Amino acid sequence: MLTDSFGRIATDLRVSVTDRCNLRCAYCMPAEGLDWLPKPELLTDAELVRLIELAVTRLGITEIRFTGGEPLLRRGLVGIVRAVAELRPRPEISLTTNGIGLDRLAGPLRAAGLDRINVSLDTLSPAVFVQLARRDRLADVLAGLAAAAAAGLSPVKVNAVLMRGVNDQEAAGLLRFCLDRGYQLRFIEQMPLDAQHGWRRAEMVTADEILAALTGQFELTPDDPAGRGSAPAESFLVNGGPERVGIIGSVTRPFCGACDRVRLTADGQLRNCLFARAENDLRTPLRAGAGDAELAEIWRRCLQAKLPGHGINDPGFLQPARPMSAIGG
Ligand code: 5AD
Ligand code: SF4
Repeated sequence: MLTDSFGRIATDLRVSVTDRCNLRCAYCMPAEGLDWLPKPELLTDAELVRLIELAVTRLGITEIRFTGGEPLLRRGLVGIVRAVAELRPRPEISLTTNGIGLDRLAGPLRAAGLDRINVSLDTLSPAVFVQLARRDRLADVLAGLAAAAAAGLSPVKVNAVLMRGVNDQEAAGLLRFCLDRGYQLRFIEQMPLDAQHGWRRAEMVTADEILAALTGQFELTPDDPAGRGSAPAESFLVNGGPERVGIIGSVTRPFCGACDRVRLTADGQLRNCLFARAENDLRTPLRAGAGDAELAEIWRRCLQAKLPGHGINDPGFLQPARPMSAIGG
């Protein structure tokens, strides 16, 4: 098992399959985009599946989440999902996407074995979408959401990040939209992971503010008084339930103590935290012919070095060198 020195066990592997994206969300990327990873550095489909197989069969990983950049831009994604669904023990397979292209891919992904999906949706206004994501693609995202539900990827989860002065008036509207369609909405506090280092604490819309905005229009009651376990979202029943809304207070209500995650980047680097300042290279030994035991040892070493928390609230906090789009959500 992948244990760390604080007794946590990593069971959830997040795999970034590309650092590219067809949006430019302001909390993630600069308008001009980023220099993408050169193709030869990207793991091939076969290399990705080999590392995931190792994690599932030898290291106790039970859940695989595919992320990006935008994972639907990876041409071989459906085949990768199919190969991972054939592993035994079969992991749970999920995907975090911006929804563009999902109208076409939801069915094939479901058929290949995808179990669950999270779609990012920060606004219901086409004009605000253009301002926030710098592309006029809201209609594609909404079509993708509908296709995901139709394909049986339910319950469809929706992730929303609020930015002050941009979409911070939309909390209640987004919740109403999701309740009407049976989507499970979760708000995520904006984290200092943008490539342009533009995050400012005072600009962040906090979990408390989001709660306050929602309680003006809905009756919210804590869903599980026993706590949130390893789930980062604090869950609330809406108007008595059974519908729920989640609030992920990554910054103001950190959940690092219950973290069960480990991350693999598209270029084959292992990270024990979104905010880690070091990575463990799996690609070089993999391409040099390393066996499973050697690779597993690198994996264990990486987890052993995991820090107790992300440190965002410490005075000496430094943002990781890689932006979110190259790490995976
Ligand atoms: N802070 C919080 N959430 C972010 N996401 C991307 N960048 C940030 C950030 N800086 C979200 C996306 C997506 C998921 C991968 O993470 O909106 O839902
Ligand atoms: Fe693309 Fe996701 Fe970053 Fe938006 S947040 S630019 S959808 S990678």
